[in-house]
Amino acid sequence: MPRERFISAIDVGTTKICTIVGRLLPDDQVEVLGVGIAPSRGLRRGMVVNIEEAVESIQASVDQAERASGQRITRALVGIAGSHIESVNNKGIVAISHPNRVITAEDVSRAIDSARTVSIPSNREILHIIPRGYVVDGQDGVRNPIGMSGLRLEVEAHIVTGAATAIHNLTQCFQQLGIDVDELVLEPLASGEAVLTEEEREIGVALADIGGGTTDVAVYSDGAVWHSASIPVGGYQLTRDLAIGLQTPYAVAEEIKQKYGYALPQEISIDDAVPVQTFGSSSPRPVSRRRISEILQERLVEIFGLIHREVERAGKEKLLPAGFVLTGGSAKLSGIDELARQYLQVPVRVGYPVGAVGLVDKVGDPAFATSVGLLLWAVRYGEEGRPGRRSRPRGRGFFSRVLDWLREFLPQ
Ligand SMILES: Nc1ncnc2c1ncn2[C@@H]1O[C@H](COP(=O)(O)OP(=O)(O)OP(=O)(O)O)[C@@H](O)[C@H]1O
Ligand SMILES: [Mg+2]
Repeated sequence: MPRERFISAIDVGTTKICTIVGRLLPDDQVEVLGVGIAPSRGLRRGMVVNIEEAVESIQASVDQAERASGQRITRALVGIAGSHIESVNNKGIVAISHPNRVITAEDVSRAIDSARTVSIPSNREILHIIPRGYVVDGQDGVRNPIGMSGLRLEVEAHIVTGAATAIHNLTQCFQQLGIDVDELVLEPLASGEAVLTEEEREIGVALADIGGGTTDVAVYSDGAVWHSASIPVGGYQLTRDLAIGLQTPYAVAEEIKQKYGYALPQEISIDDAVPVQTFGSSSPRPVSRRRISEILQERLVEIFGLIHREVERAGKEKLLPAGFVLTGGSAKLSGIDELARQYLQVPVRVGYPVGAVGLVDKVGDPAFATSVGLLLWAVRYGEEGRPGRRSRPRGRGFFSRVLDWLREFLPQ
Protein backbone atom coordinates (compact mmCIF):
# COMPACT_ATOMS: atom_id res chain seq x y z
CA MET A 1 0.00 0.00 0.00
CA PRO A 2 1.45 3.42 -0.86
CA ARG A 3 2.44 5.60 2.07
CA GLU A 4 -0.19 8.19 3.03
CA ARG A 5 0.73 11.74 2.15
CA PHE A 6 -0.27 14.63 4.34
CA ILE A 7 -0.07 18.31 3.57
CA SER A 8 -0.42 21.37 5.76
CA ALA A 9 -1.40 24.90 4.87
CA ILE A 10 -1.12 27.93 7.11
CA ASP A 11 -2.87 31.20 6.35
CA VAL A 12 -1.24 33.87 8.48
CA GLY A 13 -3.97 36.52 8.37
CA THR A 14 -4.18 39.85 10.15
CA THR A 15 -7.28 38.69 12.06
CA LYS A 16 -6.89 34.93 12.33
CA ILE A 17 -4.30 32.24 11.73
CA CYS A 18 -5.82 29.19 10.08
CA THR A 19 -3.93 25.91 9.81
CA ILE A 20 -5.36 22.99 7.86
CA VAL A 21 -3.94 19.49 7.76
CA GLY A 22 -5.05 17.51 4.72
CA ARG A 23 -4.57 14.02 3.38
CA LEU A 24 -3.99 13.44 -0.31
CA LEU A 25 -6.49 10.98 -1.71
CA PRO A 26 -5.62 8.74 -4.66
CA ASP A 27 -7.71 10.71 -7.17
CA ASP A 28 -5.84 13.97 -6.44
CA GLN A 29 -8.53 15.06 -4.04
CA VAL A 30 -7.62 16.41 -0.64
CA GLU A 31 -9.40 15.54 2.57
CA VAL A 32 -9.41 18.06 5.41
CA LEU A 33 -8.37 16.11 8.53
CA GLY A 34 -7.93 18.89 11.05
CA VAL A 35 -8.33 22.64 11.32
CA GLY A 36 -6.80 25.07 13.83
CA ILE A 37 -8.02 28.65 14.05
CA ALA A 38 -6.43 31.13 16.43
CA PRO A 39 -6.75 34.90 16.75
CA SER A 40 -3.84 36.67 15.10
CA ARG A 41 -1.42 38.92 16.96
CA GLY A 42 1.77 40.59 15.82
CA LEU A 43 0.54 41.34 12.31
CA ARG A 44 -0.46 44.62 10.71
CA ARG A 45 -1.86 45.00 7.23
CA GLY A 46 -0.89 41.45 6.37
CA MET A 47 2.72 41.78 7.54
CA VAL A 48 4.53 40.53 10.63
CA VAL A 49 5.39 43.46 12.90
CA ASN A 50 6.09 41.52 16.10
CA ILE A 51 7.76 38.15 15.61
CA GLU A 52 7.25 36.93 19.18
CA GLU A 53 3.49 37.59 19.12
CA ALA A 54 3.09 36.18 15.63
CA VAL A 55 4.97 33.00 16.62
CA GLU A 56 2.65 32.52 19.60
CA SER A 57 -0.48 32.91 17.46
CA ILE A 58 0.81 30.58 14.74
CA GLN A 59 1.78 28.05 17.42
CA ALA A 60 -1.75 28.14 18.89
CA SER A 61 -3.30 27.51 15.50
CA VAL A 62 -0.79 24.76 14.64
CA ASP A 63 -1.32 23.02 18.02
CA GLN A 64 -5.07 22.91 17.44
CA ALA A 65 -4.71 21.53 13.92
CA GLU A 66 -2.21 18.91 15.13
CA ARG A 67 -4.57 17.78 17.88
CA ALA A 68 -7.55 17.67 15.55
CA SER A 69 -5.73 15.71 12.83
CA GLY A 70 -3.42 13.57 14.95
CA GLN A 71 -0.57 14.62 12.64
CA ARG A 72 2.57 16.52 13.50
CA ILE A 73 3.23 19.52 11.28
CA THR A 74 6.88 19.78 10.21
CA ARG A 75 6.39 21.56 6.90
CA ALA A 76 3.66 23.68 5.36
CA LEU A 77 2.60 25.95 2.55
CA VAL A 78 2.25 29.46 3.87
CA GLY A 79 0.26 32.40 2.51
CA ILE A 80 1.82 35.82 2.07
CA ALA A 81 0.26 39.23 1.41
CA GLY A 82 0.81 42.89 2.26
CA SER A 83 1.38 46.14 0.41
CA HIS A 84 5.01 45.17 -0.26
CA ILE A 85 3.77 42.76 -2.94
CA GLU A 86 4.27 43.82 -6.55
CA SER A 87 3.67 42.02 -9.79
CA VAL A 88 4.86 42.44 -13.35
CA ASN A 89 4.45 40.53 -16.59
CA ASN A 90 7.59 39.67 -18.50
CA LYS A 91 8.67 37.57 -21.47
CA GLY A 92 11.33 34.92 -21.59
CA ILE A 93 12.74 33.98 -25.00
CA VAL A 94 15.01 31.11 -26.03
CA ALA A 95 16.22 29.67 -29.31
CA ILE A 96 15.54 26.02 -30.07
CA SER A 97 18.81 24.69 -31.35
CA HIS A 98 18.45 20.89 -31.43
CA PRO A 99 18.69 19.44 -34.92
CA ASN A 100 15.03 18.32 -35.05
CA ARG A 101 13.69 21.62 -33.58
CA VAL A 102 11.21 19.81 -31.34
CA ILE A 103 10.56 21.74 -28.12
CA THR A 104 11.40 19.82 -24.95
CA ALA A 105 10.63 20.32 -21.26
CA GLU A 106 14.18 21.64 -20.88
CA ASP A 107 13.50 24.37 -23.46
CA VAL A 108 10.35 25.38 -21.61
CA SER A 109 12.16 25.64 -18.30
CA ARG A 110 14.98 27.63 -19.92
CA ALA A 111 12.38 30.03 -21.30
CA ILE A 112 10.74 30.42 -17.89
CA ASP A 113 14.11 30.94 -16.29
CA SER A 114 14.96 33.66 -18.79
CA ALA A 115 11.77 35.52 -17.81
CA ARG A 116 13.50 36.14 -14.47
CA THR A 117 15.78 38.68 -16.12
CA VAL A 118 13.33 41.48 -15.30
CA SER A 119 15.17 44.04 -13.19
CA ILE A 120 14.35 43.55 -9.54
CA PRO A 121 15.93 45.71 -6.83
CA SER A 122 18.21 43.85 -4.42
CA ASN A 123 15.81 44.43 -1.51
CA ARG A 124 13.08 42.41 -3.24
CA GLU A 125 12.66 38.69 -3.84
CA ILE A 126 10.75 36.75 -6.46
CA LEU A 127 7.83 34.79 -4.98
CA HIS A 128 6.36 33.35 -8.17
CA ILE A 129 7.08 33.13 -11.88
CA ILE A 130 3.87 31.78 -13.33
CA PRO A 131 3.81 30.91 -17.03
CA ARG A 132 0.71 32.42 -18.65
CA GLY A 133 1.15 31.10 -22.14
CA TYR A 134 3.69 30.47 -24.88
CA VAL A 135 4.51 31.81 -28.33
CA VAL A 136 6.20 29.44 -30.79
CA ASP A 137 7.75 31.15 -33.84
CA GLY A 138 5.32 34.05 -33.49
CA GLN A 139 2.24 31.84 -33.00
CA ASP A 140 0.67 32.87 -29.72
CA GLY A 141 -1.94 31.28 -27.50
CA VAL A 142 0.06 28.06 -27.05
CA ARG A 143 -0.74 26.39 -23.73
CA ASN A 144 1.78 23.55 -23.88
CA PRO A 145 4.60 23.88 -26.40
CA ILE A 146 6.31 20.56 -25.57
CA GLY A 147 6.52 18.43 -28.70
CA MET A 148 5.83 21.35 -31.07
CA SER A 149 8.41 22.27 -33.68
CA GLY A 150 9.95 25.71 -33.73
CA LEU A 151 13.04 27.85 -33.76
CA ARG A 152 12.05 30.32 -31.11
CA LEU A 153 10.07 29.82 -27.90
CA GLU A 154 8.68 32.70 -25.88
CA VAL A 155 6.94 32.43 -22.54
CA GLU A 156 4.71 35.12 -21.09
CA ALA A 157 5.11 35.00 -17.34
CA HIS A 158 3.51 36.68 -14.36
CA ILE A 159 6.18 37.54 -11.82
CA VAL A 160 5.30 38.31 -8.20
CA THR A 161 7.85 39.91 -5.92
CA GLY A 162 7.85 40.91 -2.27
CA ALA A 163 10.07 42.95 0.04
CA ALA A 164 12.93 40.77 1.32
CA THR A 165 12.43 42.02 4.89
CA ALA A 166 8.70 41.16 4.98
CA ILE A 167 9.45 37.72 3.53
CA HIS A 168 12.24 37.21 6.03
CA ASN A 169 10.09 38.23 9.02
CA LEU A 170 7.39 35.75 8.03
CA THR A 171 9.78 32.87 7.39
CA GLN A 172 11.61 33.69 10.62
CA CYS A 173 8.41 32.88 12.55
CA PHE A 174 8.28 29.42 10.99
CA GLN A 175 11.97 28.85 11.58
CA GLN A 176 11.38 29.50 15.28
CA LEU A 177 8.52 27.00 15.25
CA GLY A 178 10.63 24.36 13.52
CA ILE A 179 8.27 24.27 10.52
CA ASP A 180 9.82 24.21 7.04
CA VAL A 181 8.09 26.54 4.61
CA ASP A 182 7.55 24.45 1.47
CA GLU A 183 6.39 27.44 -0.47
CA LEU A 184 5.19 30.98 0.12
CA VAL A 185 2.05 31.50 -1.93
CA LEU A 186 0.52 34.88 -2.65
CA GLU A 187 -2.78 34.82 -0.76
CA PRO A 188 -5.17 35.97 -3.51
CA LEU A 189 -3.70 33.33 -5.84
CA ALA A 190 -4.43 30.72 -3.20
CA SER A 191 -7.97 32.06 -2.69
CA GLY A 192 -8.47 31.91 -6.47
CA GLU A 193 -7.72 28.19 -6.45
CA ALA A 194 -10.55 27.60 -3.97
CA VAL A 195 -13.32 29.78 -5.38
CA LEU A 196 -12.87 30.44 -9.11
CA THR A 197 -14.09 28.16 -11.86
CA GLU A 198 -11.92 27.38 -14.85
CA GLU A 199 -14.45 29.12 -17.07
CA GLU A 200 -14.30 32.33 -15.02
CA ARG A 201 -10.51 32.38 -15.26
CA GLU A 202 -10.70 31.74 -18.97
CA ILE A 203 -13.21 34.46 -19.78
CA GLY A 204 -11.79 37.05 -17.36
CA VAL A 205 -12.46 37.58 -13.66
CA ALA A 206 -11.06 39.50 -10.69
CA LEU A 207 -10.84 38.01 -7.23
CA ALA A 208 -10.87 40.39 -4.27
CA ASP A 209 -10.16 38.85 -0.86
CA ILE A 210 -11.31 41.48 1.62
CA GLY A 211 -9.79 40.33 4.90
CA GLY A 212 -9.13 42.13 8.15
CA GLY A 213 -6.01 44.10 7.28
CA THR A 214 -5.67 43.75 3.54
CA THR A 215 -7.69 43.48 0.36
CA ASP A 216 -5.86 41.15 -1.96
CA VAL A 217 -6.59 41.25 -5.66
CA ALA A 218 -5.87 38.81 -8.48
CA VAL A 219 -6.99 39.47 -12.04
CA TYR A 220 -7.28 36.47 -14.38
CA SER A 221 -7.71 36.26 -18.12
CA ASP A 222 -7.14 33.51 -20.71
CA GLY A 223 -6.98 30.97 -17.94
CA ALA A 224 -4.07 32.49 -16.04
CA VAL A 225 -3.28 35.27 -13.60
CA TRP A 226 -2.52 38.59 -15.25
CA HIS A 227 -2.18 40.98 -12.32
CA SER A 228 -1.94 40.64 -8.55
CA ALA A 229 -1.74 43.17 -5.73
CA SER A 230 -2.36 43.64 -2.04
CA ILE A 231 -4.09 46.79 -0.78
CA PRO A 232 -3.61 47.71 2.91
CA VAL A 233 -7.30 48.26 3.71
CA GLY A 234 -9.90 45.77 4.96
CA GLY A 235 -12.45 44.93 7.64
CA TYR A 236 -10.35 46.57 10.33
CA GLN A 237 -11.00 49.98 8.77
CA LEU A 238 -14.73 49.25 8.50
CA THR A 239 -14.89 48.52 12.23
CA ARG A 240 -12.69 51.48 13.08
CA ASP A 241 -14.94 53.84 11.10
CA LEU A 242 -17.93 52.51 13.04
CA ALA A 243 -16.11 52.87 16.37
CA ILE A 244 -15.31 56.50 15.60
CA GLY A 245 -18.66 57.32 13.98
CA LEU A 246 -20.73 55.77 16.78
CA GLN A 247 -18.30 56.71 19.59
CA THR A 248 -18.08 53.18 20.79
CA PRO A 249 -15.22 50.80 21.71
CA TYR A 250 -13.68 48.79 18.84
CA ALA A 251 -15.01 45.46 20.19
CA VAL A 252 -18.56 46.82 20.32
CA ALA A 253 -18.24 48.24 16.80
CA GLU A 254 -17.00 44.84 15.58
CA GLU A 255 -20.04 43.10 17.06
CA ILE A 256 -22.41 45.71 15.61
CA LYS A 257 -20.81 45.33 12.18
CA GLN A 258 -21.18 41.56 12.14
CA LYS A 259 -24.66 41.49 13.69
CA TYR A 260 -26.40 44.47 12.10
CA GLY A 261 -24.09 45.61 9.30
CA TYR A 262 -25.64 46.01 5.86
CA ALA A 263 -24.02 47.51 2.80
CA LEU A 264 -27.12 49.25 1.36
CA PRO A 265 -28.41 52.03 3.65
CA GLN A 266 -31.16 53.07 1.23
CA GLU A 267 -32.88 49.73 1.85
CA ILE A 268 -33.06 50.20 5.62
CA SER A 269 -36.07 51.86 7.19
CA ILE A 270 -35.33 55.20 8.82
CA ASP A 271 -36.92 53.96 12.08
CA ASP A 272 -34.83 50.82 12.34
CA ALA A 273 -32.59 51.27 15.41
CA VAL A 274 -30.32 48.97 17.45
CA PRO A 275 -28.95 49.39 21.00
CA VAL A 276 -25.28 50.41 21.10
CA GLN A 277 -23.09 50.85 24.17
CA THR A 278 -21.34 54.17 23.52
CA PHE A 279 -18.56 55.96 25.41
CA GLY A 280 -19.73 58.11 28.30
CA SER A 281 -23.15 56.50 28.68
CA SER A 282 -24.08 53.98 31.33
CA SER A 283 -26.60 52.07 29.23
CA PRO A 284 -26.92 51.26 25.51
CA ARG A 285 -28.60 53.93 23.39
CA PRO A 286 -30.52 53.42 20.15
CA VAL A 287 -28.53 54.02 16.98
CA SER A 288 -30.07 54.14 13.52
CA ARG A 289 -29.20 51.07 11.48
CA ARG A 290 -29.22 53.23 8.41
CA ARG A 291 -26.48 55.37 9.95
CA ILE A 292 -24.41 52.22 10.63
CA SER A 293 -24.94 51.16 7.07
CA GLU A 294 -23.96 54.58 5.69
CA ILE A 295 -20.65 54.48 7.55
CA LEU A 296 -19.91 51.00 6.21
CA GLN A 297 -20.98 51.92 2.69
CA GLU A 298 -18.67 54.90 2.53
CA ARG A 299 -15.61 52.80 3.35
CA LEU A 300 -16.72 49.92 1.12
CA VAL A 301 -17.05 52.26 -1.84
CA GLU A 302 -13.50 53.43 -1.18
CA ILE A 303 -12.30 49.80 -1.09
CA PHE A 304 -14.14 49.02 -4.35
CA GLY A 305 -12.50 52.10 -5.89
CA LEU A 306 -9.07 50.77 -4.91
CA ILE A 307 -9.93 47.32 -6.29
CA HIS A 308 -11.12 48.92 -9.52
CA ARG A 309 -7.85 50.87 -9.77
CA GLU A 310 -5.93 47.59 -9.66
CA VAL A 311 -8.07 46.21 -12.46
CA GLU A 312 -7.42 49.38 -14.47
CA ARG A 313 -3.73 49.02 -13.77
CA ALA A 314 -3.96 45.56 -15.25
CA GLY A 315 -5.55 47.14 -18.35
CA LYS A 316 -8.49 44.76 -18.04
CA GLU A 317 -11.37 46.93 -16.85
CA LYS A 318 -13.40 46.29 -20.00
CA LEU A 319 -12.34 42.66 -20.20
CA LEU A 320 -13.81 40.94 -17.18
CA PRO A 321 -17.06 39.33 -18.36
CA ALA A 322 -17.16 37.15 -15.23
CA GLY A 323 -16.81 40.29 -13.08
CA PHE A 324 -15.70 40.04 -9.48
CA VAL A 325 -15.65 37.28 -6.91
CA LEU A 326 -15.39 38.47 -3.32
CA THR A 327 -13.81 36.40 -0.54
CA GLY A 328 -12.33 37.07 2.90
CA GLY A 329 -14.23 37.60 6.15
CA SER A 330 -15.51 41.01 5.03
CA ALA A 331 -17.29 39.37 2.09
CA LYS A 332 -19.72 38.06 4.74
CA LEU A 333 -21.13 41.55 5.24
CA SER A 334 -24.76 41.44 4.13
CA GLY A 335 -25.43 43.23 0.86
CA ILE A 336 -21.74 43.61 -0.07
CA ASP A 337 -22.22 41.81 -3.39
CA GLU A 338 -25.18 44.01 -4.37
CA LEU A 339 -23.29 47.20 -3.48
CA ALA A 340 -20.27 46.01 -5.49
CA ARG A 341 -22.54 45.20 -8.44
CA GLN A 342 -24.06 48.69 -8.32
CA TYR A 343 -20.70 50.40 -7.96
CA LEU A 344 -18.58 48.34 -10.34
CA GLN A 345 -21.35 47.63 -12.91
CA VAL A 346 -20.23 44.05 -13.49
CA PRO A 347 -21.42 40.66 -12.19
CA VAL A 348 -20.35 40.07 -8.58
CA ARG A 349 -20.63 36.97 -6.40
CA VAL A 350 -19.34 35.96 -2.98
CA GLY A 351 -16.89 33.05 -3.26
CA TYR A 352 -17.19 30.02 -0.98
CA PRO A 353 -14.22 27.66 -0.95
CA VAL A 354 -14.79 24.40 -2.79
CA GLY A 355 -12.56 21.58 -3.97
CA ALA A 356 -11.65 19.82 -0.70
CA VAL A 357 -13.52 17.01 1.06
CA GLY A 358 -13.73 15.92 4.71
CA LEU A 359 -14.22 18.46 7.48
CA VAL A 360 -15.12 21.16 4.99
CA ASP A 361 -17.98 22.62 7.04
CA LYS A 362 -15.33 24.09 9.36
CA VAL A 363 -13.71 25.97 6.50
CA GLY A 364 -16.71 26.57 4.27
CA ASP A 365 -17.08 30.32 4.55
CA PRO A 366 -15.38 33.03 2.46
CA ALA A 367 -12.88 33.80 5.26
CA PHE A 368 -11.28 30.40 4.62
CA ALA A 369 -10.81 30.76 0.87
CA THR A 370 -7.08 31.39 1.34
CA SER A 371 -6.42 28.44 3.66
CA VAL A 372 -8.39 25.96 1.55
CA GLY A 373 -6.76 27.43 -1.57
CA LEU A 374 -3.29 26.85 -0.11
CA LEU A 375 -4.13 23.20 0.40
CA LEU A 376 -5.43 22.91 -3.17
CA TRP A 377 -2.32 24.70 -4.46
CA ALA A 378 -0.19 22.01 -2.87
CA VAL A 379 -2.28 19.29 -4.49
CA ARG A 380 -2.56 20.87 -7.92
CA TYR A 381 1.00 22.02 -8.34
CA GLY A 382 2.68 19.25 -6.39
CA GLU A 383 4.97 19.37 -3.43
CA GLU A 384 7.59 20.92 -5.64
CA GLY A 385 5.13 23.65 -6.58
CA ARG A 386 4.93 25.64 -9.74
CA PRO A 387 7.98 26.60 -11.73
CA GLY A 388 9.52 29.80 -10.51
CA ARG A 389 8.34 29.46 -6.96
CA ARG A 390 10.41 30.64 -4.07
CA SER A 391 11.25 27.78 -1.76
CA ARG A 392 13.68 26.81 0.87
CA PRO A 393 16.91 25.55 -0.67
CA ARG A 394 16.98 21.80 -1.14
CA GLY A 395 20.45 21.57 -2.61
CA ARG A 396 18.92 21.40 -6.08
CA GLY A 397 18.74 24.16 -8.60
CA PHE A 398 15.72 26.00 -9.86
CA PHE A 399 16.24 24.40 -13.26
CA SER A 400 15.94 20.81 -12.08
CA ARG A 401 12.88 21.60 -9.94
CA VAL A 402 11.18 23.15 -12.96
CA LEU A 403 11.96 20.04 -14.95
CA ASP A 404 10.38 17.82 -12.31
CA TRP A 405 7.30 19.96 -12.30
CA LEU A 406 6.97 19.88 -16.05
CA ARG A 407 7.48 16.12 -16.19
CA GLU A 408 4.77 15.64 -13.63
CA PHE A 409 2.15 18.06 -14.89
CA LEU A 410 2.44 18.47 -18.63
CA PRO A 411 1.36 15.72 -21.00
CA GLN A 412 4.43 13.97 -22.43
N1 LIG B 1 -20.38 38.72 9.27
C1 LIG B 1 -19.44 39.59 9.01
N2 LIG B 1 -19.75 40.80 8.49
C2 LIG B 1 -18.81 41.70 8.22
N3 LIG B 1 -17.48 41.51 8.41
C3 LIG B 1 -17.12 40.34 8.94
C4 LIG B 1 -18.05 39.33 9.26
N4 LIG B 1 -17.38 38.27 9.77
C5 LIG B 1 -16.07 38.61 9.76
N5 LIG B 1 -15.91 39.86 9.27
C6 LIG B 1 -14.66 40.62 9.12
O1 LIG B 1 -13.74 39.88 8.39
C7 LIG B 1 -12.42 40.31 8.74
C8 LIG B 1 -11.54 39.10 8.86
O2 LIG B 1 -11.48 38.48 7.63
P1 LIG B 1 -10.43 37.33 7.32
O3 LIG B 1 -10.59 36.25 8.31
O4 LIG B 1 -10.56 37.00 5.88
O5 LIG B 1 -9.08 38.15 7.62
P2 LIG B 1 -7.58 37.67 7.69
O6 LIG B 1 -7.35 36.63 6.64
O7 LIG B 1 -7.23 37.31 9.07
O8 LIG B 1 -6.82 39.02 7.34
P3 LIG B 1 -5.94 39.49 6.08
O9 LIG B 1 -6.17 38.52 4.98
O10 LIG B 1 -6.45 40.84 5.77
O11 LIG B 1 -4.54 39.52 6.58
C9 LIG B 1 -12.54 41.08 10.03
O12 LIG B 1 -12.27 42.45 9.79
C10 LIG B 1 -13.99 40.87 10.44
O13 LIG B 1 -14.52 42.03 11.04
MG1 LIG C 1 -6.71 36.65 4.68
